[in-house]
Amino acid sequence: MIDVQALLKQLDECTTLDECESFHKENLAKKGLLAQAFANLKNASPEEKKTLWQMLSHAKKSLQEAYDAKIHYFTVQEINKELANDVVDITVDGETHQVGYYGLLAKTRRQIESLCQQMWFVVEYGHDVVSKYENFEAVNIPLTHPATEMHDTIYMNDVDERGENFVLRTHTTAIQNGMFKKYGVPLKAVMAGKVYRYEDLDASHDTVFYQLDGIVVDKWISIAHFKDFMTKLLSWIFEFDVKIRMRPAYFPFVEPGFEIDATCPICQWKWCNLCKKTGWIEILGAWMIHPNVLREGGIDPNEYSWFAFGIGINRVVAIKYGIKDIRYFTNGDLRFVRSFA
Ligand code: PHE
Repeated sequence: MIDVQALLKQLDECTTLDECESFHKENLAKKGLLAQAFANLKNASPEEKKTLWQMLSHAKKSLQEAYDAKIHYFTVQEINKELANDVVDITVDGETHQVGYYGLLAKTRRQIESLCQQMWFVVEYGHDVVSKYENFEAVNIPLTHPATEMHDTIYMNDVDERGENFVLRTHTTAIQNGMFKKYGVPLKAVMAGKVYRYEDLDASHDTVFYQLDGIVVDKWISIAHFKDFMTKLLSWIFEFDVKIRMRPAYFPFVEPGFEIDATCPICQWKWCNLCKKTGWIEILGAWMIHPNVLREGGIDPNEYSWFAFGIGINRVVAIKYGIKDIRYFTNGDLRFVRSFA
């Protein structure tokens, strides 16, 4: 018969989980001691069978309970051991990951775009490589204009369907004609991106820089709309109440044309060197889209009125943040980039 006490003692003496497992295999598992004892019941006489079965069941129950308790004990011990070794030292420096962020140019460009979007302008980026037609003729710059010369414009080897070499756009105004053709009128659009010029590099000239052009074409658009819009936009960009003044200027794609000066954001009328003690600083070019440009875009200049403007983002950012050399924007010096993170 089964000696329950002896078996309990044997189980009690097990000191590891493995030993408990072998005990289970020998005694409690399918082919173990108890299972065999149950199987042997068939040889017992009918009178003995019942008592024997009760005894065996009782033995099995106590052994199983003792075994479960033991396993639980070992498992808890094991977990405690792991926890004891797994100490978190909160004084150790954590791992740091560098998170990307927009540079000053991208940030400002996106902010201006988003402000314009809130005023229902569509935003387009066009292509960096454009035809001579898009960059010049479509915006009223004749191909005899000096700007079309190799010393101002960067030409590609590939040619368009007119057999003319493509160019790297010299201004985002090159997107304008495509916008008229794509959207028709009325139209409020800003066009932004990189522009390329074949320049001698210095603190205020770089071969690659960002521009943002805007156009509004509708009925009854007047200079009042423009002045209000531009005052708001520049006040928002420079973060104070900017005043603007408009001086007549020449750009082939506008007639009449203006250069727009704004309150000097550095001194705000305290006469600094940046504004050459005038209180004004030149910011952008603008005004009425030349009728030829509209006609080229399929728009009747007798029916509509309009304004256009073009801002150099690098210049605006350099003025706002007092950056003396615009080449910092593109020379990849991480100290500069990080200082405006
Ligand atoms: N395209 C001009 C430039 O590159 C800027 C401009 C745009 C001026 C629209 C007037 C109107 O300087």
